[in-house]
Amino acid sequence: MSQPVRAVVFPVAGRGTRFLPATKASPKEMLPIVDKPLIQYAVEEAIAAGATKLVFVTGSSKRAIEDHFDTDAELEAALRKSGKDQLLKSIRNIVPPGVSCIYIRQGEPLGLGHAVLCAKSVIGNEPFFVHLADDLIAGEPPVLAQMAAEYARHGGSVIAVEEVPRAETSSYGIVATDAANRVTKIVEKPAPDKAPSNLAVVGRYLLPGSIFGKLEKTGRGAGGEIQLTDGIAALLAESPVYAYPFKGVRYDCGNKLGYLKATVDYGLSHADVGPAFAEFLRHAVK
Ligand code: G1P
Repeated sequence: MSQPVRAVVFPVAGRGTRFLPATKASPKEMLPIVDKPLIQYAVEEAIAAGATKLVFVTGSSKRAIEDHFDTDAELEAALRKSGKDQLLKSIRNIVPPGVSCIYIRQGEPLGLGHAVLCAKSVIGNEPFFVHLADDLIAGEPPVLAQMAAEYARHGGSVIAVEEVPRAETSSYGIVATDAANRVTKIVEKPAPDKAPSNLAVVGRYLLPGSIFGKLEKTGRGAGGEIQLTDGIAALLAESPVYAYPFKGVRYDCGNKLGYLKATVDYGLSHADVGPAFAEFLRHAVK
C-alpha cells in the first residue's frame, strides 16, 4: 500500500517579471482569477487531494501570501458587524482547521530544483506534491487528486503531462515514455529538434522523499539553474516515474494570454457574474 500524500510544496519565490509592473510589489501568485488569487486555487486543489501540510517556498515581496492565508480578525469583525455574511464566509477557513502552513525562504533564485530542495527539512522522507500555481488547471476531480489516485494504484512518482506543439518544447520539461506510461527520459526545455517527444511536464508532481538526495547532487542545468527535471532524471534509474495525462483544461497563467483565457472561462462560469459577463462578451466580440 502506498503511503497517503499529506504534504505539498508551492514554489512561490519567482518574481513574475512577465507581469510587470503588476508584480513589482506584489506576488504573481496573488493575481486574481475573477475573485480568488492563483495561490488560493492552488491551495484548494492540494487540500482537495488530502494535503494537510502546505509548504510555501517564498522569496522577497511575498509577504502578501502569508497574510492571505492568515486570519484577519479585524476584517472578520467588520464584515460580521455589517452583516456581510457571504463575504465573511469567503475569507474564513481558506485554510481549514487541521491544515498547517509553513513558510520557508529561498535565499537565492537558483531554480525550481533548488526551491523544492529548500523544503527538505520539513518534508523529510515522505512522498509529497509539488504544485506550480502558474499552471491553473480546471479538472474534476482536481488534478492533484487524480494523481493521488494514480499513485495509490502503483506507487512511484507521478508527473502530470500534456501534449504541446513541437515548437513549444523549449518552454517545458519534456518526457519520453514506454507503453506503460513510465518515463524513460526527461529533459528540461529541449529545442524542438532535440526533444524526445512533445509530451510536456505541467506544474504538478507527486514525488518521493528520495528526490531530495538527488537534488542535492544535481548541478546547474538549463538556464544555469538547478532543475527539478534533472533531479527527476536521476530518480529514473532507481524508482518508476509515471507520466500522467491529466483530465482537465490547463491555463498557463505565467503569461498574459493564458491568464486572460483563464479569466474569461472562470468569469463565464462564475455564479454571480457569469450570465452578465457572457452577455457583455456577446457584444464585445462582435
Ligand atoms: C517549470 C519546469 C518545467 C515545466 C514547467 C511547467 O518551468 O522547470 O519542466 O515543464 O515548469 O509549467 P518554468 O515554467 O518555471 O520555466
